[in-house]
Amino acid sequence: MKKILVTGGAGFIGSHVIRLFVNRYPDYQIYNLDKLTYAGNLENLRDVDQKPNYHFIKGDIIDGDFIIGLFKKEQFDGVIHLAAESHVDRSIANPMEFIMANIVGTVNLLNAAKHIWKGHFEGKLFYHVSTDEVYGSLGDTGFFYEDTPYDPHSPYSASKASSDHLVRAYHDTYGLPMIISNCSNNYGPNQFPEKLIPLFINNIRHDKPLPVYGKGENVRDWLYVEDHAAAIDLIFHKGLVGETFNIGGHNEWKNIDLIKLLCRVMDEKLGRTKGKSEKLITYVTDRAGHDLRYAIDSSKLQKQLGWEPSLQFEEGIEKTVDWYLKNQAWLDNVTSGNYQKYYEEMYLNR
Ligand code: NAD
Ligand code: DAU
Repeated sequence: MKKILVTGGAGFIGSHVIRLFVNRYPDYQIYNLDKLTYAGNLENLRDVDQKPNYHFIKGDIIDGDFIIGLFKKEQFDGVIHLAAESHVDRSIANPMEFIMANIVGTVNLLNAAKHIWKGHFEGKLFYHVSTDEVYGSLGDTGFFYEDTPYDPHSPYSASKASSDHLVRAYHDTYGLPMIISNCSNNYGPNQFPEKLIPLFINNIRHDKPLPVYGKGENVRDWLYVEDHAAAIDLIFHKGLVGETFNIGGHNEWKNIDLIKLLCRVMDEKLGRTKGKSEKLITYVTDRAGHDLRYAIDSSKLQKQLGWEPSLQFEEGIEKTVDWYLKNQAWLDNVTSGNYQKYYEEMYLNR
């Protein structure tokens, strides 16, 4: 019997991690701690929330007293920490929210784990889920490796870099058993439609402009979200304590090429004339400090633990588009209320 705390389990990646663990490990007790910000949605977990090994706790990682009380009460054996503010554009508008959730929130969890485990670290693990954005930006060639120096450019990536440093510092200073993984851009079902792929699927469906930042020449390395969850499972169980693993699918796409692919798939699925959705493409003011290119080398994970991404990108994009078209109620629900205000502030004068 293992008690595992997953933070941010009602968000995009967290919900896929929870589903995998709850279904795959019936003898574990999985606790999902989530504040349910705009990005957290319990609808993401409807298919597993009645299982006897799943428990939901509504709470804020910024509240240190609450976190220490929770760790005292539940005596977790492991933590998989995903809770974070995750959208770069929002971090440019409101950096302090990112400092609080991503840095202070992480330190609260580290303090609680250190306090409760009190040096009895055998069988315990603090797994910190991080991003490739901590490494900064690449030129036209090269890859991010596990030992690439950190060089974050946005308040989001700087806050994640800071949390990574703190996790390592608690390992080096107090011996806290930890693992960090740094993953590239995820896509798939349940992603909040502020991120490129679900935003553009939703806009195409509503015949709204597709706001391409700058010239659309930035490159991202895309991974299907279930492949990320599978990597987390593997690393959590088999990764060496103290290590870092890069996760990515060797699947680089220039934004504009990806957007054109998405338009083609959407035209087909919606029965539209070929080329109709591409007409929605609108070039807008670039993101401040926009990183040019991310590309992950994940050969350590592949060689040491035998992980491989399971899906080709074209197949993953089709699956993703199908999911959003089948789950229009989910999209409509998350784009009502505050979303309209967010959209206007982010895009109206761009
Ligand atoms: P998300 O924004 O979809 O979900 C974040 C979740 O954290 C939400 O459920 C939210 O309610 C919760 N949360 C936020 N602040 C909280 C707080 N103070 N207390 C408790 N819960 C809080 O994010 P995501 O895209 O699923 O990313 C999850 C993690 O993975 C993040 O740490 C992110 O940095 C990392 N990551 C994301 C990607 C990606 O492409 N999305 C890639 C690599 C790494
Ligand atoms: O690399 C991992 C990171 O990927 C994660 O750590 C972040 O949490 C996640 O949000 C993602 O960050 P990006 O900034 O790369 O993702 P986003 O979907 O916001 O943007 C992808 C690319 O598309 C980026 O180059 C900016 C561009 N873009 C984005 C939006 C929202 C546009 O051109 N127009 C848009 O409207």
